[in-house]
Amino acid sequence: MRAIVSHAPGPVSTLTIEDLPDLHPGENEVVIDVKACGVNFPDLLIIEDKYQFKPERPFTPGNETAGIVREVGSAVTELQAGDRVIGMKTWGGFAGQLCTDVSSVFPIPDSMDFPTAAGFLLTYATSYHALKDRAHLQPGETVCVLGAAGGVGLATVELAKAMGATVIAAASSDDKVAVAKEHGADEGFVYPRAPLDKEQQKALSQQIKDLTKGRGVDVIYDPVGGDYAEPALRSMAWNGRYLVIGFASGPIPKIPLNLTLLKGCSIVGVFWGAFSKIESAKEQQNIRELMDMFEAGKIKTRISAMYPLEDFATAMDDIAQRRATGKVILLTE
Ligand SMILES: NC(=O)c1ccc[n+]([C@@H]2O[C@H](COP(=O)([O-])OP(=O)(O)OC[C@H]3O[C@@H](n4cnc5c(N)ncnc54)[C@H](OP(=O)(O)O)[C@@H]3O)[C@@H](O)[C@H]2O)c1
Repeated sequence: MRAIVSHAPGPVSTLTIEDLPDLHPGENEVVIDVKACGVNFPDLLIIEDKYQFKPERPFTPGNETAGIVREVGSAVTELQAGDRVIGMKTWGGFAGQLCTDVSSVFPIPDSMDFPTAAGFLLTYATSYHALKDRAHLQPGETVCVLGAAGGVGLATVELAKAMGATVIAAASSDDKVAVAKEHGADEGFVYPRAPLDKEQQKALSQQIKDLTKGRGVDVIYDPVGGDYAEPALRSMAWNGRYLVIGFASGPIPKIPLNLTLLKGCSIVGVFWGAFSKIESAKEQQNIRELMDMFEAGKIKTRISAMYPLEDFATAMDDIAQRRATGKVILLTE
């Protein structure tokens, strides 16, 4: 099988495409013939050893795949060869085959094609966990989504709408705000590119407050971090929940804690990967609910671009250069 391989920490240019031997499952594992693999921001971090997990080399990046079960381990009873599935693993996905634990493999409905499935779970499951389990979002509340046309951002726009919220989309261009509105955002605005000076930060905060008629937002969903975080926090309503998702802009913000006191608001961490292992029964329920929402047409992966596996560098560059609106997908055949 073909696979993208990292032999040493470094940028995308250090990756190679190689022929590797076929995989075989351990007793609780499943080998999937990968048809499509989602490209995500963490794939850029992990190849440079900048992610929270640092695999031993050589390794293959890519953590969400869709395909057909090829072989199951001797203790696996819930799946069989030929099943259409999503397969998750922190790395290993940019390849013709993925071997992963059966607990990280999820059957998909017939109505879900492989590219859609490969762009589904990481974004929607993260955002659903964030809104449902961490923010306890209620119908009628207001959610402001930063990076609203990105992978997790766009999923949040759709889910927050499906959960009955009013959604404000914030992104770096008119085109991106328009995409978020196509996916259900009620309001939207363009923020400047970082670094933001004090005046720009004040204006960002005011813009969010104005869109809530001065009341402030109930939930901020922040996958961007950096200079955007503190102004967004300053725009929150009493009892607001600020969801810490990620730091796509680079710097990890340092927040003056007195703001949480003054606003009676909470800063809430979200780590979907850990949640799915520590609270796996809740996670399984969330995935069932997401599949139901998909089948009811309430949520749908937006595919920004699809590339053959050998064009992995262009696909990863789409993410690095902020060209993607929704998901970037690699096709393995
Ligand atoms: N906590 C969790 O469990 C969890 C799960 C999944 C992902 N994440 C994190 O969430 C973040 C977003 O992931 P994603 O896969 O949705 O990424 P993505 O599709 O690339 O979206 C990230 C967005 O961040 C914005 N951005 C601002 N500055 C940027 C910069 N310098 N470089 C790239 N993007 C920049 C871009 O929107 P604008 O151009 O509109 O600013 C972009 O659309 C990442 O930090 C990822 O690690 C966390």
